[in-house]
Amino acid sequence: MREKIAGLLEQIQSFEAESREHLEAFRIQYLSKKGLIPALFNDFKQVAAEDRKEMGMLLNNLKQKAQEILDLQQERFVAVKENKIQMDTSLPAPALGGGRHPLSIVRRDLNSIFERIGFKIAEGPEIEDDFHNFTALNFPEEHPARDMQDTFFISKSPDIALRTHTSSVQVRVMEQGKLPIRIIAPGRVFRNEAISARAHCIFHQIEGLYIDKDVSFADLKQTLFYFAQEFFGPETKIRFRPSYFPFTETSAEMDVSCNICGGKGCNICKYSGWVEILGCGMVDPNVLEACGIDSNVYSGYAFGMGIERITMMKYQINDLRLFFENDMRFLKQFETLV
Ligand code: PHE
Repeated sequence: MREKIAGLLEQIQSFEAESREHLEAFRIQYLSKKGLIPALFNDFKQVAAEDRKEMGMLLNNLKQKAQEILDLQQERFVAVKENKIQMDTSLPAPALGGGRHPLSIVRRDLNSIFERIGFKIAEGPEIEDDFHNFTALNFPEEHPARDMQDTFFISKSPDIALRTHTSSVQVRVMEQGKLPIRIIAPGRVFRNEAISARAHCIFHQIEGLYIDKDVSFADLKQTLFYFAQEFFGPETKIRFRPSYFPFTETSAEMDVSCNICGGKGCNICKYSGWVEILGCGMVDPNVLEACGIDSNVYSGYAFGMGIERITMMKYQINDLRLFFENDMRFLKQFETLV
């Protein structure tokens, strides 16, 4: 028996598994119920009483070694397998289903609606300085209008902040001095607001700006009427209400007839039949001058709206937080849209 144990010990210690199958064969040969080691345990019954202590130790040691070798080599195979998954960057990506985020669907829609009437897409930085976010837009220093938009500051003097609106892109485009200008600027904006079903500290806006000779409020109205019908459908009506923005004069807010109840009144439009969707107006001459454009020669209009708001209306989404939570049950509902 002593020789048998020594022989097996030698065999298992020189074992080197070449594959998972090879390792499994090792387990079956030595450790399975009908394997060589349990067979030795069977023989143990016949061992003379005085040798039992020594044989017992040798046998237990053999079994332990075999188990260790098995575990160790098994680990190696698992490690290699995982490694392959992580490291083989040449493998083709598995076909994941998936679709576009509703905000992306709407942003693309908006881009195409405005591109069809000659608007180009412009971009600006999300981290902005005070001049582009406020000063050039006719927000004087210490003016209370700055409080209309709770700002996330990054530094004070120089004043650097996360932009509170996409109107900062207007300034960046006007500064370049290439006229006429006809752009839209979709992008992310930031405000220090309490998060609720109707507000978030991050959201998206789209800005429009048209500067040329003889641009009038009638041009603005017609452009926005076209947009409302393209986006919400041909039955959609619009109305303007006077408003105030430091960077436009005259300023207005635009409502669209509620697309849920068709204007009859429901809880979305608070039984008024109308939903406010954007701010707009004629670019204030002070803004043109601050950006180096002669306000005696040029005039223009601007508008800005929240993308979340109109997406919620279009797809009847009742909680703005859903856009940012990436809950698959929500996102899957948009899979078939492009
Ligand atoms: N920037 C304004 C806002 O964030 C919207 C706006 C843009 C109003 C352009 C008028 C003209 O509320």
